[in-house]
Amino acid sequence: MLGPDNRGDTMGQNEGRAPQGRALEGKVAVITGGASGIGRACATRFAAEGASVVIADIDLEGGGETAADIEGDGGTAHAVRLDAPDPTDNETMIRTALDKYGRIDAVVAAAGLAHAGYVSGEQRARSDNQLLDQSVDDWKRVMDVNLTGVMLANQLAARAMIESGEGGTIVNIASAAAKVPLRGGVDYCVSKAGVWMLTKAFALEMADQGVRVNAIGPGFIETPMTARGRETNEGMAWMHAMTPMGRLGEPAEIANTALFLSSNESSYMTGQILFPAGGMFVG
Ligand SMILES: NC(=O)c1ccc[n+]([C@@H]2O[C@H](COP(=O)([O-])OP(=O)(O)OC[C@H]3O[C@@H](n4cnc5c(N)ncnc54)[C@H](O)[C@@H]3O)[C@@H](O)[C@H]2O)c1
Repeated sequence: MLGPDNRGDTMGQNEGRAPQGRALEGKVAVITGGASGIGRACATRFAAEGASVVIADIDLEGGGETAADIEGDGGTAHAVRLDAPDPTDNETMIRTALDKYGRIDAVVAAAGLAHAGYVSGEQRARSDNQLLDQSVDDWKRVMDVNLTGVMLANQLAARAMIESGEGGTIVNIASAAAKVPLRGGVDYCVSKAGVWMLTKAFALEMADQGVRVNAIGPGFIETPMTARGRETNEGMAWMHAMTPMGRLGEPAEIANTALFLSSNESSYMTGQILFPAGGMFVG
């Protein structure tokens, strides 16, 4: 039986009191998609909170830059190459964390594509009838990276967390698009809705194993993924119209949410999705 202080659902000894020290002191976190945007912000923040961080990304150079920045600030980080839907790459990612740092306490699965040909920072023109023109190969690539990639990271990390006897936390980066359909992004919306249900169903299986599984559904965030939309007045107007707060979010605001879901501050939460989305779903 897992003890109260070493599992993902711990109430700890500070119940009702302000947390002391850094939230992830001595913990080990694996962040997919950590070369850029939201994943990078999570890696940086988690390291600043005391975690040793493994950054896994298809962009190994970018992941290495995130790791170097963290180390330059006195933190501990290491980058590995990951193609998210590749089982062997996922095994290497998990094995690297265990070999280098001895444990895995937290995972943030942030690697993702806006569309099949997405390379971070570049976005194809939006088609209003994307599904009518979509090839099966493109559909599969989006599902592979955005959904199967998250599933593999969850599965392998949870196995390690259970084996350690100490449990852990998993945070999956879904999207507001898991809840609201976007014209021109059927594949993306479906993949993110899948991540939301994966989170709930897996959380149910993990609830008595000490592994908490939650998701985040960001609204429009200032990362390379929204760069093309931010280039035009029309794109900005479209994003603002869907966002009552009238501004895009910053990657650090998503990292704050991920930190909450990865720390004891959320010790009684599992299977939930939080929407840091500027009031998008207030009704
Ligand atoms: N920016 C937004 O407005 C927004 C909104 C909701 C959800 N999201 C989600 O947040 C996550 C992070 O996106 P972002 O906005 O930071 O964009 P980003 O382009 O800055 O980051 C995406 C990262 O994923 C990596 N990646 C892409 N394909 C990969 C693969 N096959 N294997 C491993 N890594 C891969 C990229 O190299 C990049 O580092 C994504 O899952 C995205 O869908 C973003």
